[in-house]
Amino acid sequence: MQWQILDRFRNYTDPWRPLSYAVWAVYATARDALLGGRGSGAARSPASFKESAFYLWFKTINHHFIEIESTRTPVPQLVPQASGLVLELGPGMGNQLRRFDKSKLTRVVGVESNAHFAPDILLEVKERGLEDVYELLTGSVDDRGALERRGIVAGSVDTVLSIQVLCSVPDPEATMRELYGLLKPGGRLIFWEHHRSSDWLTVAMQCWLTRVTPPSLVVHSCSDGDDRSMEPNLEPIHRLPHDA
Ligand SMILES: C[S@@+](CC[C@H](N)C(=O)[O-])C[C@H]1O[C@@H](n2cnc3c(N)ncnc32)[C@H](O)[C@@H]1O
Repeated sequence: MQWQILDRFRNYTDPWRPLSYAVWAVYATARDALLGGRGSGAARSPASFKESAFYLWFKTINHHFIEIESTRTPVPQLVPQASGLVLELGPGMGNQLRRFDKSKLTRVVGVESNAHFAPDILLEVKERGLEDVYELLTGSVDDRGALERRGIVAGSVDTVLSIQVLCSVPDPEATMRELYGLLKPGGRLIFWEHHRSSDWLTVAMQCWLTRVTPPSLVVHSCSDGDDRSMEPNLEPIHRLPHDA
């Protein structure tokens, strides 16, 4: 193991700024819930509170996510590979819509569980000229019935696209199994996700900061045998290594 003390310090302290915004978002959501009383959406249940606070946090620092993904990750090369009938998991603010190659798409169904994001996604659909192909489904990707009502059934999907969503689902391996079942033979799963560093001290930091993708997902990540990783060779001390 190499110590690289300064690099480690920089990499490990980098995420504390976005995390400080998370603390602020929780405070602001709690304040609004208290002032708004029981009529306030966030006050209805712990799950509503979490969704409101997450939306506020994500929206506030979204420009950083866009900038980092655009300049330091393979995401801009991954997303345009989506083709045919695409199932996009957790579009969030709709950041990936700008990256689709529209000429390759027949239909895109975006499944987002947090309803707060819907207006932002629909605005992005309009701004990117995707109204004729993109449909938003507000619900969980695990809701088979809702997917079936949109015609997303076993063996029907050309591409499943998941950019930093699997770290949020309760059982990523079960979700991945379900998603494989939806793919046509030769269909593709395109994903970008946190993975475990090979450096033990960094792993200890990762456990504080994020959930890491189980190795089994990385090993079995492609349906057509094309299991190239597009992630540049990151130093193992990088705080949030990803798999693509
Ligand atoms: C970290 S954000 C990533 C957003 C977007 N994919 C991007 O690249 O900017 C994760 C998103 O997945 C959504 N999400 C989490 N679990 C989900 C589920 N079970 N079904 C659908 N969406 C989910 C969250 O609400 C959130 O918008």
